[in-house]
Amino acid sequence: MNVLSVTSEVYPLIKTGGLADVAGALPLALDALGINTRTLLPGYPAVMDKIGPANPLMHFPDLLGEAATLLAATYEGLDLLVLDAPSLYQRAGGPYLDPTGQDYADNWKRFAVLSMAGAEIAQGALNDWQPDLVHVHDWQAALVPVFMRYSEKPEIPSLLTIHNIAFQGQFPANILPELQLPGHAYWEALEYHGTVSYLKGAIVTAHAISTVSPSYAEEILEPAYGMGLEGVVASRADSLHGIVNGIDIEAWNPAKDALIAASYGVTTLKKRSLNRDSLSKHFGLDQDNSPIFCVISRLTWQKGMDVLAEIIDDLVAEGGKLVVLGSGEPGLEWALKTAANRHPGRVGVQLGYNEPLSHLMQAGSDAIIIPSRFEPCGLTQLYGLRYGCVPVVARTGGLNDTIIDANTAALAAKVATGIQFAAVTADGLKQAVRRTIRLFNDTKTWNQIQKQGMKADVSWEASAQAYVHLYHRLLGKG
Ligand code: ADP
Ligand code: GLC
Repeated sequence: MNVLSVTSEVYPLIKTGGLADVAGALPLALDALGINTRTLLPGYPAVMDKIGPANPLMHFPDLLGEAATLLAATYEGLDLLVLDAPSLYQRAGGPYLDPTGQDYADNWKRFAVLSMAGAEIAQGALNDWQPDLVHVHDWQAALVPVFMRYSEKPEIPSLLTIHNIAFQGQFPANILPELQLPGHAYWEALEYHGTVSYLKGAIVTAHAISTVSPSYAEEILEPAYGMGLEGVVASRADSLHGIVNGIDIEAWNPAKDALIAASYGVTTLKKRSLNRDSLSKHFGLDQDNSPIFCVISRLTWQKGMDVLAEIIDDLVAEGGKLVVLGSGEPGLEWALKTAANRHPGRVGVQLGYNEPLSHLMQAGSDAIIIPSRFEPCGLTQLYGLRYGCVPVVARTGGLNDTIIDANTAALAAKVATGIQFAAVTADGLKQAVRRTIRLFNDTKTWNQIQKQGMKADVSWEASAQAYVHLYHRLLGKG
């Protein structure tokens, strides 16, 4: 089966969050199951640099008024279709934001063009490769099924995966004529309170919809999580699926990880302490036996980083230490930095994005705190499981589905893998930290929780199979 995946980020070419990890790892897992995926992504500077000279497959003279060349490349096992449109993607700054942190004013066009190229390829633009199905990720690729629906050519089956319904691709209605869609597309698919919503367009037109955990699939049917789209999602409830993300267990393998100070496994857990020492040195932490908590995150309200900042003094008073790696809202960056200044030797904060350090933090910290207000799946708790860095998570979305709370029954049954807490409030998190420190001080129980986590299946295997099953259903073969 041939699948066209359309996405705005793919690890290891370009990454701002978990979408890239998923878009980079899923094709490799599907390959083992006989699915041939080609991934269409924009030719950002980082992508063009990494792929080097590439083979032009075709030229698009006019995608919403922009010219683009489609390049074929392979990179670390991925079969890529890179949309090289310098007027749209060759810019200083990130994939979505300019160097000052503002959204590019023409993001509506940058991703409509990506989607239009995706629809063209899905509908037969390439002479020698025809996808059977198109799999689109998030709002940036959401116009693919919309363009297909309103084209004269026959559409092919489409799957929309929603990685985060908070990001919807919402733009003023006056862009509509620029999208070159018929007027009725607005009322039938795109209209959202007088604006254009790309994500709504795909929720209405895709043949199936999935999200990245079963719990989140339930949650987005409710106003508290649906971010205004709960009604539209509910209207497609029969076509809605929840498939939890896996992780790349080769890239994230403490037994072979070149980015950490000392490799270890479930039977050599003691060697973890070398990573702990190296991490403590990096952040200037006191070298003692008290637990090190870590946070690796976008610093945003979604991730509960305001609540984290609020309880740092308590965490330290309880005897814990904390290291934070992240970037995001300036107010939160400031709050965390000042907390680190208040607690030298106990709290370290590094702002920015640092992939190698994120590995050392998972290998050297005792626990990872993830106090998200909502979390479609979350990947850092899965990395934590794999590295024996016990996840302390809010009971929501994929965090709920992947971590087994160390309650009395789970401890007795020897199945606990982490700590869950319910209210994302200062009190809720304080209690969770206290409970974690108590468990940490009971070394035998703690090691058991670490080992149970390290043995959990966090690979893509089961989830890739679930995608294959869904693909087959969409092709009428399942
Ligand atoms: P989201 O996509 O909502 O940000 P996920 O947990 O799904 O959350 O994925 C986040 C990914 O980004 C993980 O791979 C995590 O390790 C990584 N990450 C987040 N912040 C940083 C950072 N500052 N430096 C390095 N990696 C980071
Ligand atoms: C989004 C979500 C996150 C999820 C990731 C990959 O960024 O916020 O929970 O893990 O996508 O699916």
